[in-house]
Amino acid sequence: MKVTVFGIGYVGLVQAAVLAEAGHHVCCVDIDQGKIDGLKQGIIPIYEPGLEALVKKGTREGRLLFTTDAALGVGFGELQFIAVGTPPDEDGSADLKYVLAVAQTIAQHMTGYKVIINKSTVPVGTADKVSAKVAQVLAERDSSLSYAVVSNPEFLKEGAAVSDCQKPDRIVIGTQDLQAEQKMRELYAPFNRNHDKVIVMDVRSAELTKYAANCMLATKISFMNEMANLAELLGADIEAVRKGIGSDPRIGYHFIYPGCGYGGSCFPKDVQALVRTAEQVGYQPQLLQSVEAVNYRQKQKLFQFINRHFKGELAGKTIALWGLAFKPNTDDMREASSRVLMESLWAAGAKVQAFDPEAQHETQRIYGDRDDLLLVDSMEAALQGADALMICTEWQPFRAPDFSYIKEQLKDAVIVDGRNLYDPAQMKAQGFAYYGIGRGE
Ligand code: UGA
Repeated sequence: MKVTVFGIGYVGLVQAAVLAEAGHHVCCVDIDQGKIDGLKQGIIPIYEPGLEALVKKGTREGRLLFTTDAALGVGFGELQFIAVGTPPDEDGSADLKYVLAVAQTIAQHMTGYKVIINKSTVPVGTADKVSAKVAQVLAERDSSLSYAVVSNPEFLKEGAAVSDCQKPDRIVIGTQDLQAEQKMRELYAPFNRNHDKVIVMDVRSAELTKYAANCMLATKISFMNEMANLAELLGADIEAVRKGIGSDPRIGYHFIYPGCGYGGSCFPKDVQALVRTAEQVGYQPQLLQSVEAVNYRQKQKLFQFINRHFKGELAGKTIALWGLAFKPNTDDMREASSRVLMESLWAAGAKVQAFDPEAQHETQRIYGDRDDLLLVDSMEAALQGADALMICTEWQPFRAPDFSYIKEQLKDAVIVDGRNLYDPAQMKAQGFAYYGIGRGE
């Protein structure tokens, strides 16, 4: 099939590359000329395992095209994906200006039937707004042209985006238009093997499904963080509690890891957006508000540990920091807990000596050159001359470090571990002051 994808960010690029790999012909449209020029030469603007190879293959085999020419994009595909950003407004609700601008462009240039697919995470009611925008433009042009607007939310995780997209656990299609449903089933047929993963529903339910999924996951995390804080005060170990409750299949082991708060481009934004949506329809979403409040507090936890350890005397101290990205296998720093930590450390007069396997560039881009931030190129280099070690991201190499080396390097044998990577008893036996999440001290 011929497909056009507007917005070549995380979601758009991964979706385009995976569809091309499955045999479809995909035209990628973005307004960023630099990004499009780079992609034509195989330069991938983000770090995502497996993506580069797919993009290069699709381009080489002529099934993946890149352009800034929107009219060309509209002419290309019968299916038109909208995968542009929906940044939060000042009040936390999703800003739809880019989504509606693409809808307008499609309506201005289309000459035949189009299925317009909302892939961006958008508030309930957006498909109706997209439909109204297209109808409004077509009314002035050619009202005989037909189209359908479909909600098809994305459930991929950063760091595993390619495989999530290739092997979806469900394909949610929000439409009541039978022709559009048929086209969507055809498009996803290569990914819909073994058993039927397609779930067809009305468009508003599909839109809410996306928010409900992310908010449920964020709720699990905030719940566990709350339990961890309680465990700490009660002298219990949250890691034992986690195993104890995860063994109940109704709860399950996934997404119940306590830590230094959730980050990324999805959970914080989506929880806030659903709170705003609820308020707009006159409902007080008390649970969601608490999920957000607990997460906000959790992100300050690591600083509180280190500040308490050094009795408020952090000025002039150097802190080794392992892990900057909001989670492993990505270079994404959006809403990362490391940012809250670093900013608090700087405000207290401490220096940060940080290492992350992928997010150094992004950190440099965000914070620029500053005397109190040194980005180093190894775990070991981060420790040199440091007073303490802190960990924000559970990258694999951090799981089994050489503890005697760490002890030799640090001025004070203290580890503040925001991801519960180590065993507190073992840390104590090795002579460390060890602070985990919900594990006592
Ligand atoms: C999330 C969802 O997991 C995807 O299903 C969804 O498609 C995506 O948002 C989206 O809306 O696009 P992502 O933001 O890539 O994916 O990252 P996650 O792996 O979900 O992690 C989010 C945050 O939660 C990270 O900061 C992670 O450290 C934290 N987390 C996760 C915990 O603190 N504890 C856990 O048990 C799991």
